[in-house]
Amino acid sequence: MSQPRVFSGVQPTGNLHLGNYLGAIRNWVKLQDGHECIYCVVDMHAITVWQDPADLSRATREVTASLIAAGIDPVNHILFNQSKVPAHAETAWIFNCVARMGWLNRMTQFKEKAGKDRENVSVGLYAYPNLMAADILAYKATHVPVGEDQKQHLELARDIAIKFNHDYEVEHFPLPEPLILGEATRVMSLRDGTKKMSKSDASDQSRINLTDGADDIDQKIRRAKTDPLPLPETVEELGARPEAANLLTIYAALGDEPLAKSVADFAGKQFSDFKKALTERAIAVLSPLSTEMRRLLADPGHIDRILADGAERANAIAAPILAETKRIVGFL
Ligand code: TYM
Repeated sequence: MSQPRVFSGVQPTGNLHLGNYLGAIRNWVKLQDGHECIYCVVDMHAITVWQDPADLSRATREVTASLIAAGIDPVNHILFNQSKVPAHAETAWIFNCVARMGWLNRMTQFKEKAGKDRENVSVGLYAYPNLMAADILAYKATHVPVGEDQKQHLELARDIAIKFNHDYEVEHFPLPEPLILGEATRVMSLRDGTKKMSKSDASDQSRINLTDGADDIDQKIRRAKTDPLPLPETVEELGARPEAANLLTIYAALGDEPLAKSVADFAGKQFSDFKKALTERAIAVLSPLSTEMRRLLADPGHIDRILADGAERANAIAAPILAETKRIVGFL
């Protein structure tokens, strides 16, 4: 029996951070056991906001190296960059003609990213969720591991699949399921427990990058915002304490244990003691990863070959599905 097909993607816009790792990538690694996994460095998504070409190439290699260092297996699964497989762009165009303006107008991520400057952002940023739906459905993938922030985009991908199948009276695209797994589905900024940890935050102190060394991690956790109380006794109390909730959630996720256990272990303790334990745990998990990443990046040719090989195998899956999609639409 064939294994369920997993697809997910990450943008090469700078370094990966702890939110990407705990919310998504660590789950990608685990899913390799028992699923056929296709993981994509989404360079076409990245250019929806301006990217310097040299930076984009460098970030594509760096993100690829981080993924391999984190445990993605590019031999038994597929790892590639999006722009190498034409099915993404071709399927996305068809989806531009399936998705409704009203659906895209509801996308909160677009509203956040465009802000007050709506008239001046790229058309690509607006149509971005259609490309994301194309990424998944070009492979007929059914399982999509993501962080909480991508849930709305996944719902849109399902709506597109439903409307396509309905309009053309086919059962062509499956409905993809989001897999939002683990304790840390939404890691927050170290400077503000109510804001998502993000690559686009101007302050590097707001996030732990997968490339950070032990000293950076130590310093960032030491400076992380807290509140004046001792650590809470119960998970319920975390509701009113965003910074404590975030740091304890990170601690639990890094150790792969339930949040309730971390809360119990530090109940009533001072932040200073807890921060020491958190720093130790973060360094233990992340430093082997950054060492391996640096080793891989010493040979960019090797990374390029991995991406090219992955793209060839991705294309072999996507090309016949794209041919069928075009036939259904009526393209000769
Ligand atoms: P991107 O590049 O912003 O993030 C990659 C993955 O990391 C997760 N993530 C987080 N999880 C928890 N806490 C955070 N603070 C945090 N920040 C990011 C994201 O949820 C994501 O899973 N549109 C996508 C990339 C994409 C994609 C796809 C994903 C393109 N095509 C198809 C799935 C399927 C994005 O911009 O992710």
